[in-house]
Amino acid sequence: MDSNNDGIGDLQGIISKLDYLNNGNHDSLGIDAIWFSPFFESPDYDYGYDISNYREIDPRYGKFSDFMQLLEEAHKRNIKVIVDLVVNHTSHLHPWFLESRSSRFSPKRGWYIWKDGQGKKNRPPNNWRNHFFGPAWTWDEKTEQYYLHSFLSEQPDLNWSNPEVREAVGDVIRYWLDFGVDGFRLDVAHHYSKDPIMRNNPLFFTGWKDSLVKVLLDRTFLAGLMKLFALPTMQIGKYNQHQPETHEILKGFRSIFNEYPGTTSVGEIMGDNAELIASYYGSSNDELHMNFYFEILHLRWKAAAFRRCIERWEKALPSGSWPANALSNHDIMRAVSRYNNKRGDKRARLLMLMLLTLRGTPFIYYGEEIAMKEAKLSREELRDPVGLKWYPLHKGRDGCRTPMQWNGGKYAGFSKSEPWLPVGPDIKSYNVREMESDLQSLLSFTKKLIWMRKGLPALLEGEYKSLIDKASGRHCYYYLRETGDQKLLICLNFSLRRQEIYMPGRNAVGRVLISTLYDRDLKPAITNPFVLEGLEGCILKLQTGK
Ligand code: NOJ
Repeated sequence: MDSNNDGIGDLQGIISKLDYLNNGNHDSLGIDAIWFSPFFESPDYDYGYDISNYREIDPRYGKFSDFMQLLEEAHKRNIKVIVDLVVNHTSHLHPWFLESRSSRFSPKRGWYIWKDGQGKKNRPPNNWRNHFFGPAWTWDEKTEQYYLHSFLSEQPDLNWSNPEVREAVGDVIRYWLDFGVDGFRLDVAHHYSKDPIMRNNPLFFTGWKDSLVKVLLDRTFLAGLMKLFALPTMQIGKYNQHQPETHEILKGFRSIFNEYPGTTSVGEIMGDNAELIASYYGSSNDELHMNFYFEILHLRWKAAAFRRCIERWEKALPSGSWPANALSNHDIMRAVSRYNNKRGDKRARLLMLMLLTLRGTPFIYYGEEIAMKEAKLSREELRDPVGLKWYPLHKGRDGCRTPMQWNGGKYAGFSKSEPWLPVGPDIKSYNVREMESDLQSLLSFTKKLIWMRKGLPALLEGEYKSLIDKASGRHCYYYLRETGDQKLLICLNFSLRRQEIYMPGRNAVGRVLISTLYDRDLKPAITNPFVLEGLEGCILKLQTGK
């Protein structure tokens, strides 16, 4: 929300909408925390993910006092504040890098990764490529060395093997925790450490058989991350990602968080397999509090694909650890559009039901609650460097970053001036004002479900167990969430046809607490078999005999 009508969302704009997020009553969304993408000073080559000052708010978003007010107002409403920790790299305009770059003898030279060129042709030190386009090395004329950047050349990588860097970042973490921030999302944490002898990465093609088998088995498709991250690099990040020292760094972070009880961290750690990613929770839960499992963002619309994916993740997680679940974010096509077809709305409700009933913390991307769709932007409208480089092969990430749709007006109620990105499609029907008065809308469903969830211990902290039934397992994904005295069965029918579901136990009796279809009669007691309509999802409360 833009409060000063310059076309860019800002902190005062967010403050004015906190009551929408949680005013303590059931007419608000009822969320408990906000993860903010970075609002620190940045020249914006990668939209805030290139920070030039970790301790200041970028003036476009407001003043430091606005941030303090936001923190206070959020806390008043029991909303926790999570900020983005982007410390694999800084901006090339960060004073640390400016100093590092100024001379080979600068005291900060070793804060970044500088290397000589190779051979007569002065080629880059190795074959590493950055995730957006081209080599991961940029030649610096002045000091005649290459520096490393896993993303844009305007995002030089910090040298995490340098203890001074670890200390400086630790200070940044403490700085925000001292102000009362509740936690951090850790940007690309699997990239922090690099192979000490900087070996060449194997080419993607050498592993193509493995990749293909995996893609087929997992039923993922070559969209999203594959395009965004693998296609531009065409190599396997064997030596510039997931190095063992990463665990040490995360343990260091965790010990800082432990000094501030009640704080948390959620990692953006991507990788090939669930075990690898789960390892960043630490062998004794002493690293990340949570990590996203990105595979769930790349599944086909198949009940079994979702079931298998969650089972894999649940199995890989060390005991006592806590998942983070998201179906959309600022880097990938919005889920409603990924699964778009004429049944979009029904699918959106099914996804929301799943998101809010899986074990762990659900992350709703702004606008997901109003089924905001991906915008199709022309090349002229794009801002994201990825889109600008790869258009039309890949249109970048702007399509999921368009202004929040508060109403059906010209700029969707986001701003009175033309916003920095155009508004998305269908804003007349998909906006907060329209949908909050419609009891059958996704927004009303989401509010109801979030508030209902708060009163169901089995959803908040219960065990997860998926059930498989030969007859309906292809079409339905269903799982139990259970505490000592509460047993819930969540059933999601991914198909268009009616499906019969069997509650566990021959004489099981249940009651439907909520359905994605607003016309289901919730009164009758349910016995086996329970019939789910096409694309219907339900929470059944099972009688436990107590
Ligand atoms: C991951 C972030 O989510 C993405 O938006 C950003 O471009 C890269 N990290 C680089 O910081």
